[in-house]
Amino acid sequence: MNVVVGITGGIAAYKAVGVVRALVLAGHDVHVVPTEGALRFVGRPTLEAISRNPVHTDLYEGVSEVRHVAIGQAADLIVIAPATANSIAKLATGLADDLLGNTVLASEAPLVIAPAMHTEMWRHPATQANIDTLLARGVTVVGPAVGQLTGADSGPGRMEEPEAIVRAALAVVGETDAPSGTGAGVARSHDLAGRRIVVSAGGTREPLDPVRFLGNRSSGKQGVAIAEAARARGASVTLVAANLEIAEPTGCAVRQVSTALELRDAIREAAVGADVVVMAAAVADYRPAAVSEAKLKKTPGDAGLTLELVRNPDILAELGHAPHDGTVLVGFAAETEPDDVRLVELGREKRAAKGADLIVVNRVGWHEGFAGDDNRATVVGEDGAVVTELHGTKVSVAHGILDVVVSVLTDRSSTEREPTAGRPARTTDEESDPR
Ligand code: C5P
Repeated sequence: MNVVVGITGGIAAYKAVGVVRALVLAGHDVHVVPTEGALRFVGRPTLEAISRNPVHTDLYEGVSEVRHVAIGQAADLIVIAPATANSIAKLATGLADDLLGNTVLASEAPLVIAPAMHTEMWRHPATQANIDTLLARGVTVVGPAVGQLTGADSGPGRMEEPEAIVRAALAVVGETDAPSGTGAGVARSHDLAGRRIVVSAGGTREPLDPVRFLGNRSSGKQGVAIAEAARARGASVTLVAANLEIAEPTGCAVRQVSTALELRDAIREAAVGADVVVMAAAVADYRPAAVSEAKLKKTPGDAGLTLELVRNPDILAELGHAPHDGTVLVGFAAETEPDDVRLVELGREKRAAKGADLIVVNRVGWHEGFAGDDNRATVVGEDGAVVTELHGTKVSVAHGILDVVVSVLTDRSSTEREPTAGRPARTTDEESDPR
């Protein structure tokens, strides 16, 4: 296959060498088209050696071969990695002021881009609008991943790993399996356009007194990744954010909460009429029976302190067991269970107990599950069947979960006119309130 790899001028350009190499090793004829900016980060001799083909950038060279259109016309696939905010803006408007821009416009091949930039630039409404334009045009967007950026900062904006980009790109032309579950976060299209999705993220905090709380180590990264991925796929998203350790996503309606009871109120309000509710937040099962108005003090000579806790409502179970008008309910089962089979079994039990449609099972522990950028999860669906196994960045896992959600929504709309036995009507506020 003739693959054009466009490289634009971001620091991640050095990683594009890995993309070129993986494509060459997979047996493809790779033609690299770097921008002038890209050549400040990675040298032409490197690109020529790795791609085994000459590398051109100048629009006014090779005019007799009509190179500005020849490269694009011959391509079966174009991969742009990294795609900077500037290059994404140019692609969205169809600018052709360099060889890469001309190559893209002259080509009918599928286009795959791997954005890489700082979080602020990625989240800027201009960039997000450009990404929406490209998605609507059928461009495949791989990543960006959430992680350490060039400076000390970290967040969404890091280029996906070369292997994941190549896997996603080859899947677009049917050369490998779909990348869901194996690597890159791929925004396939606007397959959630017109849908309303509510996502909870983060971890609740249950106050003991004005300065202390009982909390958990959930960073909110997985929930935020789901919210962002859903938005990228065209959904209107409400994020119920409980004490996030990372920045809020743009383009989503955000409701800040802290305690389980606050989260419950926000979810119940937002869930009315929603197509999907994803409960990714780690919600405290118990809260202190009484919250002290003053800071609790140790008394001289006491041996310890006993706290009395009371149960919090199970928000997901309340939604699952109340009429919810076909809203797809997705819960999480974060467990420390070491045995894989038992772990999935716990997910099945949780799905049944809570009346959820899908349960995302993942292992958590001292060193896994929480603050990291990667995740590993199994999605349990109808009848407790394992629908998919996902691993990769939290962004890619988010897309994998949404793939399953989309297929449930699609199945439901195709059977909409059939009787929905057992499927209750819209969520109400009538259930018992354990407060
Ligand atoms: O029972 P467990 O806490 O393991 O269930 C986890 C799932 O249930 C998550 O989706 C979480 O958001 C949700 N949950 C809830 N209300 C609670 C506790 C958990 O909705 N009080």
